[in-house]
Amino acid sequence: MSKQYQFKLVLLGESAVGKSSLVLRFVKDQFDDYRESTIGAAFLTQTVTLDDQSTVKFEIWDTAGQERYKSLAPMYYRNANCAVVVYDITQTASLEKARTWIRELQRQADPSIVIALCGNKTDLEARRQVSQEEAKKYAEEEGLMWAETSAKSGEGVQEIFTAIAKKLPLTAPPSARPGAASRGPGARTGVDLSKQQGAQGQQEPCNC
Ligand code: GTP
Ligand code: MG
Repeated sequence: MSKQYQFKLVLLGESAVGKSSLVLRFVKDQFDDYRESTIGAAFLTQTVTLDDQSTVKFEIWDTAGQERYKSLAPMYYRNANCAVVVYDITQTASLEKARTWIRELQRQADPSIVIALCGNKTDLEARRQVSQEEAKKYAEEEGLMWAETSAKSGEGVQEIFTAIAKKLPLTAPPSARPGAASRGPGARTGVDLSKQQGAQGQQEPCNC
């Protein structure tokens, strides 16, 4: 029987870098040119099949990047197993904001959290302001995973989530191992994994 691992993943980053678009691409394989800015946070799930032996179910908290929601973030990254910190490769300031989030995670999140730095909007290569070298060097110095993506074209999106899924079962605390209860914001109760629907993404209303 295959094992299903369950992990809580939080997306952080400046407003408009494409956090919600990355999740929409990952969960539904869709892209929307005119997305509304997220209010509070959104919750979605998606399952990644690693091999015959194991699947990883992500409980995804897509946070709002607007400054007015900043104080909510600890509620979402607290107890998170992994964080995807997103910047926009066409906006240098968004990498600075990503660095701020990473410093906060390093100070305040669970010490075992897996952090991935993600440069989004690679389809806008002509407008690039953040070089791959600069971002990669920073990620290496801080011990982070790093990748570039385009939520618009889909490039790199599945890959970054799969890379995180592969890394997690190896590093996860016992609470994230198969059959363990889910630990989400507001102490959400455990999820019965036997009732989940396999590899299909599901969108659920925000309960925050
Ligand atoms: P907040 O919810 O305000 O924090 O923003 P967000 O980070 O969730 O950004 P969102 O996904 O809403 O995307 C912002 C804008 O960027 C939207 O108009 C998207 O269509 C656009 N966008 C997102 N990803 C990409 C991408 O990979 N390429 C291009 N060209 N545009 C993108
Ligand atoms: Mg959003």
